Amino acid sequence: MSLLVVNASQVVTPTGKGPACGLAQGQVRIFSQAVVRCQGETIAFVGSRQEHDRLFPPATQELDAQGGCVIPGFVDPHTHLPFAGYREDEFDRRLAGETYAQIAASGGGIVKTVAATRQASEDELLRLTLLRLARQLLHGTTTTEAKSGYGLNTESELKQLRVLQRASQLQPVEIIPTAMPAHEVPPEWRHNPDGYVDLVLEEMYPAIAAAGLAQGVDVFCEKGVFSPEQTRRLLAPAKSYGWNIHLHADELFPLGGAQLAAELGALAASHLLHVSREGMRALAQAGVVAVVLPGVSFFLRDRYAPVRELIGAGVPVALATDCNPGSSHTESMTAIMQLACLGAGMSSEEALVAATLNAAAALGLAHRLGSLEVGKQADLVVLEAPNHKHLVYHFGVNLVRHVVKKGQVVVRDGVFAA
Ligand code: NIG
Ligand code: FE
Repeated sequence: MSLLVVNASQVVTPTGKGPACGLAQGQVRIFSQAVVRCQGETIAFVGSRQEHDRLFPPATQELDAQGGCVIPGFVDPHTHLPFAGYREDEFDRRLAGETYAQIAASGGGIVKTVAATRQASEDELLRLTLLRLARQLLHGTTTTEAKSGYGLNTESELKQLRVLQRASQLQPVEIIPTAMPAHEVPPEWRHNPDGYVDLVLEEMYPAIAAAGLAQGVDVFCEKGVFSPEQTRRLLAPAKSYGWNIHLHADELFPLGGAQLAAELGALAASHLLHVSREGMRALAQAGVVAVVLPGVSFFLRDRYAPVRELIGAGVPVALATDCNPGSSHTESMTAIMQLACLGAGMSSEEALVAATLNAAAALGLAHRLGSLEVGKQADLVVLEAPNHKHLVYHFGVNLVRHVVKKGQVVVRDGVFAA
């Protein structure tokens, strides 16, 4: 099977097999009037039609870009997809002036989603998760990370992760599952948070690992949630399970989460609204990817992460939706790119690199995903726009026309391909 993408105005892509930082964060390669050849699941050629025709036989299938721009499929490196129930009432309360913390203290927040997720049957949770994955795909996301963390007991955490495993088999978006039983201390353990940490370590991680349901682990290191000391304990066994380390760090208070991520050899540290200079230096030195979540800043009307300073310090910056019902309810990576540019001061090129190559790097997958280069997986998006700048310039709409995953057309003219 071969697929040739023809009639593209431009093919725009980051380059490299690792994260781009500093000046490279803003650099993309632009091919004018180029074609992309997918051979099986892999990219075999990017360049002029003439050269392609000299080197390759005709492809078995063509995809007409109709003058649109071709970019890599988006990678969303931080989501909380398998959840039940919604919290639009809290959204209203915030609009009326209450804070996220006040709402959480009055019984709302994560705990409310935990109750709904525990109550949902596995099939219902699967149905909800598939709806979100479908929306991601229609918006150009071809790979997504997804966390548990609304179960907060062994049975419900396993249920969330099983849903992700089943969803992987049922639709094209590639799912990278992360275990996050340390997303919050559940109500029944509030009297003894260290007891909950013990339970995570002694019962939950072993059960998740035995079932082979996670590739990574994440902890919400935050004042009033898990302290740096508890986080150290919670992440100590990660490597022995073969799990990549992620961290929710320096979101609400500067707790030194970035330094902790660097110390523990994390692949990525997320949020970072309150990261210190020292934290930035530690991230840069250890090569930790900063996963910035401007959807949360927008949705909670909070400050944005210091993206310019992070890039200036040489930290590779990735973008993610953080798709969840409380602090960022969206599946759209282009919405996130718009906020990253208009809210946090990124350029459209920096945002594109952050949503593709650096997002792949945040999952340890930059060798395989995140750019349109020979040998990488054939995951791409054809836009209804002449160049990539329209992704942020033409805001609030979906410019994704076609999506190709592993060399197969999975979205055609904005709808799922038959
Ligand atoms: O990543 N920061 C912690 N957890 C989520 C929000 C969870 C929720 O409000 O349900 C986040 O933003
Ligand atoms: Fe999150």
